[in-house]
Amino acid sequence: MKGKKVILGISGGIAAYKSAILIRLLRKADAEVRVIATRNAFEFITRVTLETLSQQKVYCEVFGNNNDYTSEHISLTEWGDIFVVAPATANIIGKYACGIADNALSTSLMAFDKQVMIAPAMNDKMYHNSALRQNLQKLANRGVKVIEPSEGFLACGYEGQGRMEEPENIFRHIEEFFKISDCFKDKKVLVTAGPTYEKIDPVRYIGNHSSGLMGFEIANEFASRNGDVTLITGPVSITSTHPGIKRIDVVSAKQMYERCIKVFPGVDIAVMAAAVADFTPEKAAGTKIKKEKEQKMMLKLKPTKDILTKMGKMKKKGQFLAGFALETDNELENAKKKLQQKNLNMIVINCLKDEGAGFGTDTNKITILDNNQKVLRYDLKSKKAAAADIVNYIIKSIK
Ligand code: CTP
Repeated sequence: MKGKKVILGISGGIAAYKSAILIRLLRKADAEVRVIATRNAFEFITRVTLETLSQQKVYCEVFGNNNDYTSEHISLTEWGDIFVVAPATANIIGKYACGIADNALSTSLMAFDKQVMIAPAMNDKMYHNSALRQNLQKLANRGVKVIEPSEGFLACGYEGQGRMEEPENIFRHIEEFFKISDCFKDKKVLVTAGPTYEKIDPVRYIGNHSSGLMGFEIANEFASRNGDVTLITGPVSITSTHPGIKRIDVVSAKQMYERCIKVFPGVDIAVMAAAVADFTPEKAAGTKIKKEKEQKMMLKLKPTKDILTKMGKMKKKGQFLAGFALETDNELENAKKKLQQKNLNMIVINCLKDEGAGFGTDTNKITILDNNQKVLRYDLKSKKAAAADIVNYIIKSIK
């Protein structure tokens, strides 16, 4: 873990004493550690202990003379590769889930846009409280990794689930994250996103409802794991992308086809999430089509080239090709056909019947089908978290 940058958030629970061991393990593995503690954390562990072990100043107050400057929550969060909150009390979990930023730790969590892990620690009744369960689910759906507490003797005298996971195991989760985050280091990845617009005349086009978000989240996920990503996107309103992504904007299915065919031979992995038009006007009018009274409008369409089918034919040994299947019915059967016909390694199924899945939402409910006939169904979650599932699946497959 040499040079890896870990932000360790410590909130006020008795398990805070175990955080000292976690810092030791991380430092021994040559990781750099910066601690952000709540005021209550100091009821359980001293600032001196944390500063001595991390060899860094502990950040606790957003305002005050202790800081180098008042936007430490921004500079620190930009610095970190991962943010681990251990122990995470019911209070900090509730704040993070609801977007409350009222201390150094909750404010920093709000400003952090990379991987967050939380290790809850509390009494077992609190752990099974429905508000806490909902908050944990919310966070998991946003891509936060929850390191479940173990069963055993609790500080309150009860036996049950709520003991913070042992520091050695939390350390292993962090180690695993860094292993995974480097696994696309030398990999070139192509992702497509968004709709395509097929021109009817200078003011009209045929399009679809794709926002591009799913494809963008997949591209971001690969880039945040050090992949060399090219994103070919149709017209979307998304402007922010991971700085490591090379973005190519296209409009029509034909343009997307041309760019994809050019880029594909040089990549290791391609994930085609774009909603490409299947038909395009046979001929686009050069000037605006005028409406004639009572006259019906006939638009002649011709099929577009199927990019994925072409790429399936071009695919060389070692290349991994993933497609999407957008279905309204018979999803598994239809997706199986697409997987075979297009020579894919894997297909991600979106079923428009599922509430919260598909176009125009920031959530998705996916099913993954691979060419070993393995079917994996996932819960409804944010598109960011669904993208992480897809990328994790690809990692396992290419291994
Ligand atoms: N696709 C493509 N080129 C096209 C149409 C689709 O590369 N001209 C890709 C999509 O990016 C997606 C996959 O093919 O990864 C499946 O798209 P989908 O619209 O679900 O299926 P189609 O193959 O177009 O079949 P149908 O519309 O009949 O369901």
